[in-house]
Amino acid sequence: MTQTTAESPARKQRAQLKVRTLRTDRWWLAPALTFAGLSAFLIYGFWAIFDASYFVEPYIAPFSSPCLATSCPEGARFLGLAPFGDWYGLPPGLLILGLPAGFRVTCYYYRKSYYRSFWLSPPACAVAEPHKKYTGETRLPLIIQNVHRYFFYGAIVIGAVLTYDAILALVHKPAGLGTWILLVNAALIVAYTLSCHSCRHITAGRLNHFSKHPLRYRAWTFISKLNAKHQPLAWASMFSVMIADFYVRLVAKGVITFPFA
Ligand code: FES
Repeated sequence: MTQTTAESPARKQRAQLKVRTLRTDRWWLAPALTFAGLSAFLIYGFWAIFDASYFVEPYIAPFSSPCLATSCPEGARFLGLAPFGDWYGLPPGLLILGLPAGFRVTCYYYRKSYYRSFWLSPPACAVAEPHKKYTGETRLPLIIQNVHRYFFYGAIVIGAVLTYDAILALVHKPAGLGTWILLVNAALIVAYTLSCHSCRHITAGRLNHFSKHPLRYRAWTFISKLNAKHQPLAWASMFSVMIADFYVRLVAKGVITFPFA
């Protein structure tokens, strides 16, 4: 049997079609909806980071937590800490933005979604992309996407902080609607974080014998089940964090008032 290792010139070329695609279904719908959803998140996030109404006892808006700047109100400071000096005058949310943003931007699922919906590279399966060349993530700048596994550790910290905020709200205002919104959001953020492909790999990705590592195997089995839901968790946690953040800001601005808030 003859085996060829080099690609023939014919195989390197794309199919020579006169039309962009032969697909007749609504292949453009998924990238269009993704574009709309991600754009809404980006626009909201930009507004929220610069909005000053992020705290009202006992709630803190997730986009501004942990609050570590000296300008943070007393009750909003994470564990009472303010490690940044008076020199820092920008919004507190900017200090920690890099961790959750870097985690989502480099996420395997989000990469697929914005490559398709923003860069049209390609917009859908079997639909030609406008770009002439394809180099994947093999060179700068996209090779940097490999840092995703490190952002995972930062995301674990953010998930823990949001859980802590939600528990504090539960202790001080168990009947508050905001408390339950923050709790659901924290649960979804943690579930999304744990469903990460890097988390699955860290749990037991390089083991040769599961039988010798029963605990890691059980953890891997659990994470694998979450991992299968990574895409819906990515969307659910994205909307939940927007809703929770917006809700707290509306309460802080007095648009929604206690005792039901
Ligand atoms: Fe999506 Fe890690 S792969 S968060």
